Amino acid sequence: MKNKVVLITGANGEIGHGLIHYLSQTPETQIIALDIKPLEPQLLSLCEQYIQCDIRDNDRVSAIFQKYELDTIYHLASILSTSAERIPETAHYINVDGTIELLKLANQQTARTNRAICFLYPSSIAVYGLPCTDTKRQSGKVREEDWCCPTTMYGCNKLYCEQLGRYYASHYQQLAEAAQEVRLDFRGLRYPGLISAFTVPSGGTSDYGPEMLHAAARGEPYHCFVRPDTRLPFMAMPDAIKALVNLAAAPAETLTRQVYNVTSFSPSALEFQRKVLHHFHEARIDFQPDIPRQSIVDTWPADIDDSAARTDWGWQPDYDFDRAFDEYLIPNIRERYTEPV
Ligand SMILES: NC(=O)c1ccc[n+]([C@@H]2O[C@H](COP(=O)([O-])OP(=O)(O)OC[C@H]3O[C@@H](n4cnc5c(N)ncnc54)[C@H](O)[C@@H]3O)[C@@H](O)[C@H]2O)c1
Repeated sequence: MKNKVVLITGANGEIGHGLIHYLSQTPETQIIALDIKPLEPQLLSLCEQYIQCDIRDNDRVSAIFQKYELDTIYHLASILSTSAERIPETAHYINVDGTIELLKLANQQTARTNRAICFLYPSSIAVYGLPCTDTKRQSGKVREEDWCCPTTMYGCNKLYCEQLGRYYASHYQQLAEAAQEVRLDFRGLRYPGLISAFTVPSGGTSDYGPEMLHAAARGEPYHCFVRPDTRLPFMAMPDAIKALVNLAAAPAETLTRQVYNVTSFSPSALEFQRKVLHHFHEARIDFQPDIPRQSIVDTWPADIDDSAARTDWGWQPDYDFDRAFDEYLIPNIRERYTEPV
């Protein structure tokens, strides 16, 4: 019997793919999916309903709340960092206006039913803004409170939406005569760059990692847009899904904060290239840094401190750098690109 209703926005994206597959294995979960693009047919059959619309279409989005009493929202719809830098105002309207409308509706349902909706928000290491590469080298594992000074529209959007979530969960209408009895349960994750075997990213600034791997598997040359010594944190997609659903399942009383860093491994771009070459000997990968994108990556930390997530809700990635390649990425990517067309 289905008794848990979950809304996934941005359902056709990289995380959406993995999340729909994962949640559809729990028979009690009813998945309502939303994306501006058509949902891939293989995902459609796993969802109770699919709504193709813009997250800013208030009529269509409020109709979901009229039809269903939602338990959990995974709000994935977003314009990613590189794309957002090309259309900053539009990115703001989608990333921020889209989020506040959803928070408002989720909070209205919470107030009406006296049952807190769990609102999961994937934030990003883009909220950080380190001033120079020396500071980046010296900073080690950056904590949630440090260097929250983003230089991109996407980073600004993410940081502000985290604050909006905190506001709705803790302070919404604090001057009203009667305080809302039950508040929205907002939980955020700051992801590093994600690498999936099944989808290819687009529009992100950590995309060089997954892009060089998928290009090698397709037998295509790849020009890496950052310097070989560039270091960023990354995570394999199954761990990204695990982090999201484990945070959603964590008892509220164990949580000491509303937004958590999570990470797995931090290779340099050169180490990434060598790892890809180890598995695909013929790969043609060179380095042709794109200065503006390099400058953005230089402001993001080389590593982040996820000890709060480990302590509060038992976060532990399953895949380190070697295992991610050996057991998840390489076998699945080889299969993907050798499939008959
Ligand atoms: N992939 C990563 O490396 C990474 C890292 C950190 C955070 N995140 C965050 O995780 C979330 C999901 O990321 P992803 O990797 O699946 O990204 P993605 O780009 O693959 O998916 C985003 C989805 O949002 C949809 N979308 C865009 N604009 C929309 C709109 N106006 N209305 C409705 N849908 C819209 C897109 O069609 C797309 O399917 C995003 O919020 C992203 O910022 C991703």
